[in-house]
Amino acid sequence: MEDYKRLLLNNKAWVKDRLSLREDYFQRMTEAQTPKYLWIGCSDSRVPAEDVTGTEPGEIFVHRNVANLVIHTDFNILSVLQYAIEVLQVEHVIVCGHYGCGGVKTAMSRKHLGLINKWLRHIKDVYRFHADELDGIADETVRLERLIELNVVEQVSHLAEISFVQQAWRNRRMPVLHGWIYDIHTGLLKDLIKIDPGQLPHNIYVYEFDD
Ligand code: CO
Repeated sequence: MEDYKRLLLNNKAWVKDRLSLREDYFQRMTEAQTPKYLWIGCSDSRVPAEDVTGTEPGEIFVHRNVANLVIHTDFNILSVLQYAIEVLQVEHVIVCGHYGCGGVKTAMSRKHLGLINKWLRHIKDVYRFHADELDGIADETVRLERLIELNVVEQVSHLAEISFVQQAWRNRRMPVLHGWIYDIHTGLLKDLIKIDPGQLPHNIYVYEFDD
């Protein structure tokens, strides 16, 4: 059998399994979604958002890209964020990095892989901001793990710098911003940083609103 066909067969088995749990499983899914969480994770195939958080379809709104970056000129992530925050009114936004991240590892090296380097360049900036600390770590794996953590912290800060996040904080005291790390060795999530609504970033990023 061609390998990919296994996925289609799995799907049939999955449907059967879900229907055996609840007859109206899929009927319920046709109603509007009301997820409380937005997950911004890495595209890495080893970090499936729903599996590692034990969430069901309908519970978690997901955006994934290489190395879980929040880039202010990326219309893809900005659209996901604006829709999740203003329309779905999610209560929590989680940026989740993971140890062993190939994107961060490449950014820490001088490897040139083509277009992806333009994307990963943002992580080189994170390295530069923390060069004093990172250059002082002799063990390469430990240094990589630290950069993976610092990258998550930086991306969560980026969320707080977005105008419509600050607007949502003002209007409805939501969402709470979180930075987590998934440990691929143990399967455990580590709670790294939390930014509560109203905890504004550096002054230079704070907006004034007329309404
Ligand atoms: Co990764």
